[in-house]
Amino acid sequence: MDRGPAITGKSIPRIDGPLKVRGQAKYAAEYEVPDLLHAAIVSASIAKGRVISIDSADAKSFPGVVAVLTHQNRPWFWPFSFLYKDPAGPPGQPFRPLYNDRVHFSGQPVALVVGDTYEAARDAAALVRVSYHREQHSTDLAAEVSRAYKSPRRRLGLAPTPQPTGDADRAFSEAPVKVEATYTTAAENHHPMELFATTVEWGDKTVTVYDKTQSPKSVEIFLKVAFRLFRRKVRVVSSFVGGAFGLGLRPQQSVFLAVLAAKALKRSIRLVIPRDQMFALGYRANSIQTVSLGADKNGHLLAVRHRAIAATSRNEDAQDPMLNFSASLYRCHNVKLAYELAKLDTVSPCDMRAPGAATGMFALECAMDELAYATNVDPLVLRLANYTERDQSENRPFSSKALRECYAQGAERFGWAKRSHAPRSMRKGKELVGWGMATGVWEAAMSPVPARAKVRLLADGRFEVTSSITDIGTGTYTILTQIAADALEASIERVVVKLGDSALPFNPIQGGSWTAATSGSAVQAACNKLKKKILSRAKQAGIVGNGQSTELLSPAALADLLRLSDHDNLSATATIINFPFGKKYTGATHSAVFAEVRIDEELAVVRVTRLVCAVAAGRILNPATARSQIIGASVMGIGKALYEDAATDHNLGRCMAHSFADYHIPSNADVYEIEVLFAEETDDKVSPIGVKGVGEIGSVAVAPAIANAIFHATGQRIRDLPITIDRLA
Ligand code: MOS
Repeated sequence: MDRGPAITGKSIPRIDGPLKVRGQAKYAAEYEVPDLLHAAIVSASIAKGRVISIDSADAKSFPGVVAVLTHQNRPWFWPFSFLYKDPAGPPGQPFRPLYNDRVHFSGQPVALVVGDTYEAARDAAALVRVSYHREQHSTDLAAEVSRAYKSPRRRLGLAPTPQPTGDADRAFSEAPVKVEATYTTAAENHHPMELFATTVEWGDKTVTVYDKTQSPKSVEIFLKVAFRLFRRKVRVVSSFVGGAFGLGLRPQQSVFLAVLAAKALKRSIRLVIPRDQMFALGYRANSIQTVSLGADKNGHLLAVRHRAIAATSRNEDAQDPMLNFSASLYRCHNVKLAYELAKLDTVSPCDMRAPGAATGMFALECAMDELAYATNVDPLVLRLANYTERDQSENRPFSSKALRECYAQGAERFGWAKRSHAPRSMRKGKELVGWGMATGVWEAAMSPVPARAKVRLLADGRFEVTSSITDIGTGTYTILTQIAADALEASIERVVVKLGDSALPFNPIQGGSWTAATSGSAVQAACNKLKKKILSRAKQAGIVGNGQSTELLSPAALADLLRLSDHDNLSATATIINFPFGKKYTGATHSAVFAEVRIDEELAVVRVTRLVCAVAAGRILNPATARSQIIGASVMGIGKALYEDAATDHNLGRCMAHSFADYHIPSNADVYEIEVLFAEETDDKVSPIGVKGVGEIGSVAVAPAIANAIFHATGQRIRDLPITIDRLA
């Protein structure tokens, strides 16, 4: 069978697309389970203090209500922080719902109402009366700056903030050109389209948990430990995940509470977190950052100082690589970074797409634009003047770096050469036009935890590939199908990929943009193994054909093989251990983003009319799904730049938004042209399959490119995100 050229690298439409548009792809809240009960959360209305009493009499007598669970009557669970270390968790004590009477943040679950129907549970939840002893809370980052601290504990797998090099203070004070400014970024909520939800099927021997998560394996281990379910089989299924963006990296409150209730009542339970309660699951840390850049008259960097203060909760030191790229993106010998946290009475912040980088690079890339104007150098020319081929913070080369090509190709497509440098110098009709650009960077890594994949020859000559990894909407099903098809020299129709089930071969969290490289390498290794096995068995069985592997792997030859060799279960499993990169190279994806804004001067309404995103991310497995990743991330970048603000009423210590009516994200009408280019980048070091990953990189440079375009259009330098009308007018 001639299957033609390689399938990887082609824009294969999503394998799971038809299932999704027909409604056949099942999400956590859609599984039908017999005798299902429904739960609803009662959440705290104060930000800090204690629960004095909970009056649930009215709720209990509400028709259809089965139980009201609180910290007083819940079943026992392990204080799991001692026994379960969440691979995506920061140092500290993870939040434990219904643990005791303490209230740590507004919106914290204080009771769980369980009923025959969702409506009964939800309506009765409104009847639970909680009285509190209120304590003084603090939710205002600006008010906590003086108490900011450098966390003494480091998060698992997170590279530390780079050490200082040279003498940045002196170099800055002596620099002929200086820019120094403070930037702030708002807290943001992830808000994937699919709500967080869990359906627990409670059985004597097996507990099946349909959960929205980015790591079915983490959830399985977590539940076993927290609820001491060692004698039961716990299976966590997340076949389809409607977006997550980091909010599902750790076992969520929803799965904990649903299993808690199931254990208490020995019944199957469903818990769906409604949109208003999604605000209390986690957020991207808001930040206050000061960047000081010293340069010579031509814009060559002499000093980079970057200090960031980011929000965290009282119980955990949430950390992300906010400044990790500030020392390595541009050539500079005097760098000083300070990454500090300030404790607030909120839920713990958590990773949100391009965690840290999207926030830290906003400040650095706006400061670079300020330097471009201070030196009267074109912003793109300034970046090129400070280009570095080495990661100076680690003193090693990059495994590959096609950022120069991103700049060139992006600028060409955008028409950057036609830009006039002066602010307010471009107009179209009644509108001011602004063109801005920014650089993006994200680490290209493989999972620090080994990943496995299994491939099995089915009786009908198809191949079944299995892995516990999820597809959070990124296209994982599709790219793994492509990789397997190529390795097995089969058409994609002959490959069946099963994912998102903790019973399948171990794969770690889907996150960090490392899934394609990690799980993809595991799938390729397993398929190569199976192919070898098949070819040698075929020879043993005397099936030689013309000796070509393509023929030996054809359905007819495989049917012969299965018949002749008594092997009805030919399979292979491979484990990928973090590619032995050593300390020789730095792996990173890069982007150059060019933005056009048009601004109605009277109304200060900003439209992002054009974005060109040029991305270098190693080998692109599927240009269509990769492009979708970058477009989606760019839309999030528009949201970060212009709309998204999980603003808190500091009097109440409570997030003021409860829906998309007050938490604004870009709608279709806010999104114009987004063009995506992939610069060619060959990299045989970064991962066994040459893949770097494209999930996060799309988010990094969009907000600063837009902010810089707004300056170019208006002459106003807005250093606080989001850039709303009131800030601009
Ligand atoms: Mo990503 S923030 O690792 O889901």
